[in-house]
Amino acid sequence: MRIGVLTGGGDCPGLNAVIRAVVRKGVATYGHEFVGFRDGWRGPLQNETRPLGIAEVRGILPRGGTILGSSRTNPFKIEGGVETITANLAGLGIDALIAIGGEDTLGVASRLHDLGVHVVGVPKTIDNDLGATDYTFGFDTAVNIAMEAIDRLHTTAESHHRTVVVEVMGRHAGWIALHSGLAGGANVILLPERPFDLDQVVDHVERRFKTNYSPIVVVAEGALPAERGMITKDGELDAFGHVKLGGIGNWLAAEIEKATGKESRAVVLGHIQRGGTPTAFDRVLATRFGLHAIDAAHEQDWGKMVALRGTDIVRVSLAEATRELKTVPVERYAEAEVFFG
Ligand code: F6P
Repeated sequence: MRIGVLTGGGDCPGLNAVIRAVVRKGVATYGHEFVGFRDGWRGPLQNETRPLGIAEVRGILPRGGTILGSSRTNPFKIEGGVETITANLAGLGIDALIAIGGEDTLGVASRLHDLGVHVVGVPKTIDNDLGATDYTFGFDTAVNIAMEAIDRLHTTAESHHRTVVVEVMGRHAGWIALHSGLAGGANVILLPERPFDLDQVVDHVERRFKTNYSPIVVVAEGALPAERGMITKDGELDAFGHVKLGGIGNWLAAEIEKATGKESRAVVLGHIQRGGTPTAFDRVLATRFGLHAIDAAHEQDWGKMVALRGTDIVRVSLAEATRELKTVPVERYAEAEVFFG
């Protein structure tokens, strides 16, 4: 078979490990041929490809980002987009696609599958918010980067008797905030799943100061202050209808400073969480996803996504995987609350 590979949506550490595993097993075990599509769905839309053989995947296992490039292109939002993709795939002699992405990229894959395109999906996102898989690769790396930042912020916050508010990514799911906050010993963790009361956050901060330690507040970019709702960067939506998040950290630090009379600073980790080399966990998960994705394509098991269940890699339908977001359950947040204040 001649198989196209693409990576779409926000990049994350581990994408190259998937590409390498798909190509290495696909060529060595099955004798398939590969074509790399550039920048997610933009590649098949505009016929932009790059060679993808054993030579091209040498040395990429530890590299962050994606050698194929990425974008948030949505072919269903472009007039004639889907017809162009199917015509281009036929023109290039592509028998199947392996799409590596999050809810948006895989949502497109699922709809294309319904229209007869041969596609297998691989889940990726630092947000860990895809249903049907216990973990997505990229998440562990992002959490470790945020944890290390929190460790460092504890010592400087204490030297200056300040509150430090750490804003982390995750969009509308609080997984990065929950895990990095727990691992880093944050005094308050605020998630999108539970609108927070500012007075209660200030109480936790004051209590922490009373013990002569400085408070670290971890806030997810999508966290909701009960009194004013979500804070966004600008009102603009991307091709999938998502609003750009960011700004809650600075807002919260200013409110805490006003209420406590003590200096408060915000640190926004931003894309640092997505860049650089993947952790061992993410390299192994991404590699296993790649190996199982090429098996699924070889067996022509179309419309499936590979997923982690416990320690096993299984196949689930793309439609099921993209049906709803996986958010933090109430009980998981309650575990973290024991350490607040
Ligand atoms: O989905 C991954 C993610 O990093 C989110 O956590 C974040 O809200 C978004 O992407 C940022 O997107 P961009 O890189 O397009 O600003």
